[in-house]
Amino acid sequence: MSLAQIGVYGLGTMGSALALNLAEKGIQVAVTNREAEWISPFMAEAGALAGNLHPHEVLADFVAGLARPRTVLFMIPSGPPMDAMIKAITPLLSPGDILIDGGNADFHDTRRRTEELAGTGIHFVGMGVSGGEEGARNGPSMMVGGSEESWQRLKPMFEAIAARFDGHPCVDRLGPDGAGHFVKTVHNGIEYAEMQAIADIYGILRYGAAWTPAEIGALFGRWNESGLNAYLLGITAEILGHSDPRTGHPMVDVIADTAGQKGTGGWTVIEALRLGQSASMIESAVGARNWSSEKAVRHEGEVRLGGERGSLDIAPDVLADAAMAARILGHAQGFDIFAAASAEYGWQLDGARIAEIWRAGCILRSALLDDIAGAFRSDPPHGRLILSEAFVQRLRSTVPALRQVVSQAVAAGHAVPALSAGLQWYDTMRQGYGTANIIQAQRDWFGHHGFERLGQRGRHHGPWQD
Ligand code: 6PG
Repeated sequence: MSLAQIGVYGLGTMGSALALNLAEKGIQVAVTNREAEWISPFMAEAGALAGNLHPHEVLADFVAGLARPRTVLFMIPSGPPMDAMIKAITPLLSPGDILIDGGNADFHDTRRRTEELAGTGIHFVGMGVSGGEEGARNGPSMMVGGSEESWQRLKPMFEAIAARFDGHPCVDRLGPDGAGHFVKTVHNGIEYAEMQAIADIYGILRYGAAWTPAEIGALFGRWNESGLNAYLLGITAEILGHSDPRTGHPMVDVIADTAGQKGTGGWTVIEALRLGQSASMIESAVGARNWSSEKAVRHEGEVRLGGERGSLDIAPDVLADAAMAARILGHAQGFDIFAAASAEYGWQLDGARIAEIWRAGCILRSALLDDIAGAFRSDPPHGRLILSEAFVQRLRSTVPALRQVVSQAVAAGHAVPALSAGLQWYDTMRQGYGTANIIQAQRDWFGHHGFERLGQRGRHHGPWQD
């Protein structure tokens, strides 16, 4: 029996889709799963691809079925399960083998695991995989973190299965150790912000202008044919057109308004704050999900605080420009975190390259990403997207609409957390002199913390105590 070029451990939604994608590209794939009973159904569903798939129920047989130097891709839940599997499989491996964690891992774990395995000669690779089941099966975007040596060996296989934009595979090594998982985490954070901005605009149309879900879906569908083209907008347009098979009502009207989250958006915010950044749009989206889970409190709030909301009549074109402004600002906040992380962790994260491998396959894919890549290639002032010539113009032309939408929505009592957070950040970043002087004065008054005087560095104190 020929030895497999790669082994996939974990035949859940993503693992089985990736295994089939690899097999479809003619790659010999060994497969196994902690619950052995998942293996036969997977092989049965593989159909003609089964010829390139080699099932094993026992871990040692799975490893023995791999050509050396071995490559093992784990697609299992992040956290302790990954540590347990590393412990179980490393005694079966040899120096030069590659262990890949393809889950949504905390990049701090990935950095630790890389360190722990460093002495063994086994390469540990942390790879973010984006695109959901469809992406994994037909072409994901993959963000690789690990040694250059391991990447040179993995590159042919992963370029073969990756999504392609203009023929370019949406996969690359973005840096060492946790760099890949970090980029994936921030990808998810920006995803949260984009999803919430879409939900904010849905709320304006649904509860401010009494549009039906189908009407909103049709509008989003038209936007998706324009420069606002994006995967998340497109699926929302589709979602809003669906009716509940059971009741015939719009499907969105039978879905509970309490949002789940596996945590990557929250990790993004925590890391941003640790890095001295503030991804306020991402935080607003995580907050909105947390607030949504407080259903009973919100019910009581509607009774005690009053749930009235005024009507809104905002032109669709204005909403479209507001959506574009929000999308730009959400991405800009996310990409700013990359720059801070590069400095902190000694990575050289390349915003242009990250944007390029997100142009297809990932949940964030949109027409905007090609422009973002170009903006970063233009080397914008301070490395900031919002200061790039291209985006200064686009923000100047779309933010007035965002301002109008937020102003009218807020005045009418509609919650628009992502849209308003983006606008507040934008308005802060375009003031050369803000109000932090008041903060400094307060801190010096009660804590004698000192402050810099304008034009005079060093630590000064106010005349408060005199
Ligand atoms: C992707 C997605 C995926 C994400 C799930 C659920 O890029 O394919 O971001 O990785 O984990 O869609 O994420 P939440 O439960 O955090 O919304």
